[in-house]
Amino acid sequence: MERNRPLTVLGIESSCDDTAAAILRGREGAADILSSYVWGQTDLHGAFGGVVPEIAARAHVERVDICIERALAQAGVTLDDVDGIAVTAGPGLIGGVLAGVMCAKGIAAARGLPVVGVNHLAGHALTPRLTGEAAFPYLMLLVSGGHCQFLVVEGPETFHRLGGTIDDAPGEAFDKVSRLLGLPQPGGPEIEQAARRGDPSRFSLPRPLLDREGCDLSFSGLKTAVLRARDAVIADKGGLTPTDRADIAASFQAAVVDVLAEKTRRALRQAENVGTLAVAGGVAANGPIRAALQQVADAAGVRFTAPPLSLCTDNAAMIAHAGMLRLARGESDGLAFSARPRWPLDAVAPAMLGAGRKGAKA
Ligand code: KG4
Ligand code: ZN
Repeated sequence: MERNRPLTVLGIESSCDDTAAAILRGREGAADILSSYVWGQTDLHGAFGGVVPEIAARAHVERVDICIERALAQAGVTLDDVDGIAVTAGPGLIGGVLAGVMCAKGIAAARGLPVVGVNHLAGHALTPRLTGEAAFPYLMLLVSGGHCQFLVVEGPETFHRLGGTIDDAPGEAFDKVSRLLGLPQPGGPEIEQAARRGDPSRFSLPRPLLDREGCDLSFSGLKTAVLRARDAVIADKGGLTPTDRADIAASFQAAVVDVLAEKTRRALRQAENVGTLAVAGGVAANGPIRAALQQVADAAGVRFTAPPLSLCTDNAAMIAHAGMLRLARGESDGLAFSARPRWPLDAVAPAMLGAGRKGAKA
């Protein structure tokens, strides 16, 4: 019989450019976050315009044990209090995932603790359960720098993908457009800020795949259209004024908002019996995107929820939470499980064509 007894779980996350550890106490759907420590690497990768896998992996190796010590200290517990370990086993940049998995296995072997390998995307997808804001089944829109997909979350281990990006992730597009406009990284907050002063109707940009049925999305053509619009202005005037930048940013953001809103409308029509629309991932920080999704949810008569930003972006609390159910059932993956660069949540849905050039970060 399945048990869901309360446990104290150490979570470990190292799949992209954040090394993180967390201590959770409770059970799936009802856990307290005793601590959640995240050590980001933006400073290490900033000069390269993207995450450098080798640099990321080395930093994870150097930092993961420090993060665990800090998470334990902040929670006021020791390893003696920990009942089990949940570690991201994929998908992600393989060197980083390996660093976390090896560390988790080392602690498990030394302390005789059970350890489970967790799918990073399941961590994101179950976050609305961690904050107590969604009953199964719910629709999750996962939008980040590396991923973009609609998932019906039917249970803690049952995910059904309705659609996703066929090329780039939206966060990647925000980052690229920011670079095109000479603005810093990460691009999302920069574009959002610039767009506030801009005219979203000045440039007529495409709304990719709205003419195609279903909930698949595409952002690569939109990026190219922004490049052309920028080059046309430069060819005409010899450079970009702050107003040009603001207008391009606003026009681009409006296109992303329109596409995400319309595809979410369709996903809600396709998903049966969902009572909640949830969003997660770094792009969920975007005000106009959140506002548009709220409207779509209101019109469809479902609740809308977005976890607090610290739980939207990569963290280990979501990993501990996603691993709790299996640990509570007394399961362990032992010391032989693998780190996986690719690991689709929905094994039945056709493979995604693109998972974002930044790698498999979500
Ligand atoms: O979830 P996250 O921290 O890491 C990834 O999985 O990539 O998301 C980071 C992404 C970046 O591409 C960043 O530009 C984007 O989220 N982002 C935003 C905003 N804040 C962060 N995109 C749009 N608007 C924002 N306010
Ligand atoms: Zn992620």
